[in-house]
Amino acid sequence: MDIRKAKFMQGFIRLTDDAFKKGWHERNGGNLSYRIKSEEIEAVKTELNPVGEWFDIGTNVPSLAGEYFLVTGSGKYMRNVILAPQDNTAIVKINEKGEKYGIVWGLEQGGQPTSELPTHLANHAIKKDLTQGRNRVIYHAHPANTIALTFVLPLEDKIFTRELWEMATENPVIFPEGIGITPWMVPGGKAIADATGKLMKKYRVVIWAHHGMFVCGDDFDEAFGLMDTVEKAASIYVKVRAMGGKQQTISKQGFLDLAREFDIDLNTEFLE
Ligand code: 13P
Ligand code: ZN
Repeated sequence: MDIRKAKFMQGFIRLTDDAFKKGWHERNGGNLSYRIKSEEIEAVKTELNPVGEWFDIGTNVPSLAGEYFLVTGSGKYMRNVILAPQDNTAIVKINEKGEKYGIVWGLEQGGQPTSELPTHLANHAIKKDLTQGRNRVIYHAHPANTIALTFVLPLEDKIFTRELWEMATENPVIFPEGIGITPWMVPGGKAIADATGKLMKKYRVVIWAHHGMFVCGDDFDEAFGLMDTVEKAASIYVKVRAMGGKQQTISKQGFLDLAREFDIDLNTEFLE
């Protein structure tokens, strides 16, 4: 089967196109990865090339040994994925120790997987384990309102979580565990992968100060929806600040009532 026609590729493409149109992906900003199911890789096996060269991942992910990932290419533009996935994305295979990757499809005009591959794979390893294999998508974007907040709010999980929960009644239902924040860090390496991974053990959303956001999801809809929800909350917050700040908001008791009615495991640490 032509990989470009596979359902997982169609889902991947739809996310990249929708997300570019949201304004979250200037130039080559942001990246996306999908852990391919064994039956999906089986269906396209005849299209795959043998691994030519193995490259260091830059972190160790033994639990991902032998897995295949569809990833965006480094320096490639999200808006171009729909036009030529074979040039702008790659399928990579992880070696048996979980230390190296090899390219088996894509990047036909040259290039390499996203520079954030260490963070993507570290997060895949953590979420695969925590969700008994259900989580398959890790997604990074540069949404403007969320980034703007990292210049004005203290860089604390509790403050970001509480402010963004307050911005729309159903937000605590979408991200009841809250949001993690890293301070500004150099992107693209093991240090930022480790810092993000530590937060991803607790949360499904991590904001990188003055840079962007990482989210995860069992499928493309979940990951896209989570990014969209947090960014919309941030955009409401920006409007509220611009209009002179909150005059009233949802009470602590309101959140507790919501958690009970919606039967969600709300992180009540952030209500204090
Ligand atoms: P890549 O082009 O290497 O994916 O980098 C984009 C980015 O957003 C880095 O954080
Ligand atoms: Zn980035």
